[in-house]
Amino acid sequence: MLNNVYIIGAGETKFGELWDKSLRNLAVEAGLKAIENAGIYSRDIDAIYGANGLAGTINEQENIGALIADFSGLSMEGIPALRVEASTASGAAAVREAYLSIKSGEYDLVVVGGVEKMTDIHGSGILEKMSSILDREWEAFFGATPAAMAALIARKYMNDFNVEKEALSMFSVNDHLNASKNPDAQYRNKLTVEQAMDSIPVADPLNMMDCSPVSDGAAAIVLASENFVKKNKKEGVKILSSAVAEDYLSVGSRESIYTLKSTRLAAEKAFKKAGIKRDDISFMEVHDSFSIYGLLELEDLGFAEKGKAKNLVYDDIKLNGRLPVNPSGGLKAKGDPYGAVGIGQVVDAYKQLMEKAGERQIKDARYALLHNMAGTGASSVVHILGE
Ligand code: COA
Repeated sequence: MLNNVYIIGAGETKFGELWDKSLRNLAVEAGLKAIENAGIYSRDIDAIYGANGLAGTINEQENIGALIADFSGLSMEGIPALRVEASTASGAAAVREAYLSIKSGEYDLVVVGGVEKMTDIHGSGILEKMSSILDREWEAFFGATPAAMAALIARKYMNDFNVEKEALSMFSVNDHLNASKNPDAQYRNKLTVEQAMDSIPVADPLNMMDCSPVSDGAAAIVLASENFVKKNKKEGVKILSSAVAEDYLSVGSRESIYTLKSTRLAAEKAFKKAGIKRDDISFMEVHDSFSIYGLLELEDLGFAEKGKAKNLVYDDIKLNGRLPVNPSGGLKAKGDPYGAVGIGQVVDAYKQLMEKAGERQIKDARYALLHNMAGTGASSVVHILGE
């Protein structure tokens, strides 16, 4: 049975403070770019999966699947269009649902799009909305925000493993350097480690330059079955594996606050299914909504022992290093529009693996690992893409 799944097109909007574009404008812009890039027609599309985290809360707009189909001009075709929600991992979760729908033989061609429009609410208002991804009764009710939770984790991690603040800042420095070469990134300024460490405090020990920004943006991809690819002579990138795992929502319930168990489990499953080794990975995109998570993710994805990621952040993770991390600029500098993030990672990896990443191109890129995480790590989705 031919049941491999391929990415045959990808497109995204710029990420940033996009006040002149609405939620629906962003979704349609990214979707049309992906469809055009794939060279397909609306009659080819079997289904649409729309990823979104907080439109009901921020924009007072639910029913995102129907909205996207309507404003893409696809409602008249009767194409199923459903929303997938898994907080900040909504994007990769939607990719996984679409992948499974093709794997099962139900569909041949699926468009997956993710969108978030977050900058319409400013200051503490948006922080309150973003904090709804935490456990409301046990965390957010007591004033915790995502930054505060990341700061608690960072403090204990730095203490237990003797990690200096500089190691966290280096993750952001790498993101900003890569984003300076990415026209779709929110922040394209290069950052020195001194600037990162001297930026204004947010939640001690984290500063502004340890935090992903508040972002608007959308990203979309077109997934196709092996049959469709062969019949229509399409080129694409194969999804070698897709895996998801969960941990407790509340950080206080976890076995260890600096172990991302969902990430560990998802990575193990993804490598097993893909049949490749960690050494085979050419580059990674990881969910570094706060710099501390970048280090934890390197460890829990299996690339460093616990407490030892500090040894990788100075050289190895650079674009020309042994293990390039976040060639897109990551969440810190490319941006963090919740529902779009996981799909934006695929858009960027697709460009790399098709050798179309311009000045960010990684030489001989063959296998990519993509990691998208919900909030403080309640859910993690890992995809491995390759030949
Ligand atoms: N990185 C780099 N620059 C940032 C930034 C960030 N994270 N956040 C804001 N800026 C810039 C703005 O573009 C603005 O620049 P300008 O003066 O040139 O226009 C300036 O800093 C002030 O922006 P403002 O929006 O007033 O900042 P703020 O103090 O309200 O917000 C943070 C800063 C760090 C608190 C905010 O980015 C934040 O809350 N980040 C975390 C998001 C989050 O919790 N995500 C959840 C992931 S699970």
